[in-house]
Amino acid sequence: MPSSPTATLVSELESKAVVSAVTTPAEGIVELTLSAAEGGALPGWTPGAHVDVILEPDLVRQYSLCGPRGDTSYRIAVLLSPDSRGGSQGVHHLTEGDSVRIRGPRNNFPMLASNSYIFIAGGIGVTPLLPMIEAAEAAGADWHLFYGGRSEHTMAYLDHLRQYGDRVTAIARDQQGRLDIPGILAQPRPNTLIYCCGPEPLLAAVEEHSSTWPAGALHLERFSAKTVEREGADTDFEVVLQRSGKTIQVRPDQTVFEAMRAADVSVLGSCLEGVCGTCEVGVLEGEVDHRDSVLDEEEQEEMDCMMVCVSRCKGSRLVLDA
Ligand code: FES
Repeated sequence: MPSSPTATLVSELESKAVVSAVTTPAEGIVELTLSAAEGGALPGWTPGAHVDVILEPDLVRQYSLCGPRGDTSYRIAVLLSPDSRGGSQGVHHLTEGDSVRIRGPRNNFPMLASNSYIFIAGGIGVTPLLPMIEAAEAAGADWHLFYGGRSEHTMAYLDHLRQYGDRVTAIARDQQGRLDIPGILAQPRPNTLIYCCGPEPLLAAVEEHSSTWPAGALHLERFSAKTVEREGADTDFEVVLQRSGKTIQVRPDQTVFEAMRAADVSVLGSCLEGVCGTCEVGVLEGEVDHRDSVLDEEEQEEMDCMMVCVSRCKGSRLVLDA
């Protein structure tokens, strides 16, 4: 459920939607149902997907789809952030009948097939996991949700989750403390996938305590950009844009995204902080200095794509499929 400050996306599937229902699944959280403005179905989606909600031309936020799978409307649940830069406030002001433009859906947090899952949610991070849980249940997979929150009345969808009985461990901090991540992940389990979404300290703890699990077991979705260690100052490099037939220079004070746009090369962008995955471009040659929060370590090592809004080049030249 990434959120972002900037909107510069140049073209992608955009839909006109209307707010068809508003509910309050927990204190400080509003759930909106968005339906196609002209009737019919909104584009299909898969568990883990998010949509861009375009509140204003320069105010776009990404929210996970949390409704039932196959729903032809979209459901999003949004926590009113105390330090909102306008996004969550804007969503909380929407009422039934309001029009809203949306883009996507897009899925950077796809659910892979497995016989066994551990889901770990912190607060509003439960939203992308709800359709995954439904899918796991429908597939007859073994699964368990560990869901932590500040207090029960701030934890959305607890009533809905009660139907799953002891598959769900809900821990309200004001009564039981925090989720015991070291305990939950103490025993690496083969063939079990971990899906986690929540605030950064939770994600960091899950990353740390799953380090002994099989490679590829952990799947995270971040709300905001993770801190990326940088070695030395940024330098300039050359980018060959194969399909456009252009070669551009990226200055140290410029991103690849900015250099592409300056050269009139079409590239999509939304968050511009390496979180949403909109600006992904294929890499044909060269070594990428990955700085995004979308790709996992394995995906980054494959060097076949990059988020051009933040990632750079480790050498002096990249060839991109753009
Ligand atoms: Fe969001 Fe690059 S624009 S990851």
